[in-house]
Amino acid sequence: MSQLFSKKPLSILLEEVKGENRLKRVLGPTALTALGIGAIIGTGIFVLTGVAAHDKVGPAVSLSYAVAGIACVFAALCYAEFASMVPIAGSAYTYAYATLGELFAWIIGWDLILEYAVASATVAHGWSHYFQDFISIFNLHVPKFLSTSPFDLSSSTGLLISTGSVLDLPAIVIAFLITLILVKGIKESATFNAVIVTIKILVVLFVIVLGAMYINTANWHPFAPFGLTGISFFGHTVFGQTGPGGVPVGVIAGAAIIFFAYIGFDAVSTQAEEAKNPQRDVPIGIITSLIICTLLYIGVSIVLTGMVPYNKINIDAPVSDAFKQVGLQWAQFIISLGAIAGITSVLLVMMLSQPRIFLAMARDGLLPKGFFGAIHDKFRTPWKATILTGIFVATLAGFLPLRLLAELVNIGTLFAFVVVCSAVLIMRKLHPEAHRPFRAPLVPLVPILGILTCLMLMFSLPEENWYRLFGWLLLGFIIYFSYGRKHSIMHQLQNSDKKTENVVLDK
Ligand code: ALA
Repeated sequence: MSQLFSKKPLSILLEEVKGENRLKRVLGPTALTALGIGAIIGTGIFVLTGVAAHDKVGPAVSLSYAVAGIACVFAALCYAEFASMVPIAGSAYTYAYATLGELFAWIIGWDLILEYAVASATVAHGWSHYFQDFISIFNLHVPKFLSTSPFDLSSSTGLLISTGSVLDLPAIVIAFLITLILVKGIKESATFNAVIVTIKILVVLFVIVLGAMYINTANWHPFAPFGLTGISFFGHTVFGQTGPGGVPVGVIAGAAIIFFAYIGFDAVSTQAEEAKNPQRDVPIGIITSLIICTLLYIGVSIVLTGMVPYNKINIDAPVSDAFKQVGLQWAQFIISLGAIAGITSVLLVMMLSQPRIFLAMARDGLLPKGFFGAIHDKFRTPWKATILTGIFVATLAGFLPLRLLAELVNIGTLFAFVVVCSAVLIMRKLHPEAHRPFRAPLVPLVPILGILTCLMLMFSLPEENWYRLFGWLLLGFIIYFSYGRKHSIMHQLQNSDKKTENVVLDK
């Protein structure tokens, strides 16, 4: 029992990263902020804005962006505090190990697979949408049977329907290409990321500035056709309207979907071990990237819903399609290309983060070290875990629908945020004296607001997501109790302490 709640002391955490099996320290504050933006702006803004505006919110989707952005700011401040205290790979997993104990750490590590690997699959789908949109400019088309997942969620009933396709080939191909880049190494990846992030920001600004000239304010009326609230509890509406198929709709329900667009700022904390000055630069990277993206998102969603009536917004490639609808076909070229570049960089950071979480878990003995902890001799990257991640991502992206994946990612990530906010509160109580180069302001208010806003968004997702989350966690429990618990390094340390005590007593 005591093992389940045994905590990993801060001193051990910091000691570990001094060892041999380390990653290279190459990232400065700009590179970290770029990694943040690289991980944040992608399928969320370029695809899910259309789904949310069309099905759940209407023009008020810009308010959904503001609500989700606020929830993320609270969580980001908590992440930043932890990342400055424990600047090693592993993110929320490591923070949970230090504060809540091994079982919780495992739960979060397992849950983060939803955030990074399953999100990567979702993002690869979005990439495929824009890739197909882009080649259509040249009258090229991916054959229908290779163009998307075999089934999708119907927007009117919420049930699964057949798409007539067999698999999403472009999504599978991009997942494999990114895996190759990542096996080769972080430095090359960070440079590649910086170039792509620049292109992506320029394209988003292009959308905002050019799109603003084509706003027809009549499209903003009614502003919130599905209501300004949409708060639900396990899928049952508490405030606001219920949509087709009994799913929650309204600003908050929309925020629960487009929350996906913000995922990624915390990926900066998984790079802490590769940062030159993690204590200062990781909080800067997290907070700056989040603020920049929030402003850009609100801008894009205001413009998009002003350009096209919300019920005419395309749900596959909404941003480039809006420009087509106002007669700017040529802009489709720039936007699709920018979206492809932008979404590629999200995939890059997400697929970079997942193996590093596996690495942290393997170091603790909760996953097989020979495989998940293996660092490539020449490239110094966790190459085996990277390849496994690539195979997992490609499989999910090839066969499961975007919206189902996105909702699952959201509930898993929101859960991780709730744990990180709680862990900050606990750590302040347990170790008030610990050195905190960055302190979240107004504690306990900020973590408490973070917990409440994230829970509100979790509850506002359609109910099935809770069952999927529970199912995933159950599978995690089975793995922990059959492997991790026995192989845990903390467990072995505790046992050897007990043996030493017994020897002393016997004497
Ligand atoms: N925030 C990332 C995206 O929108 C996951 O693609």
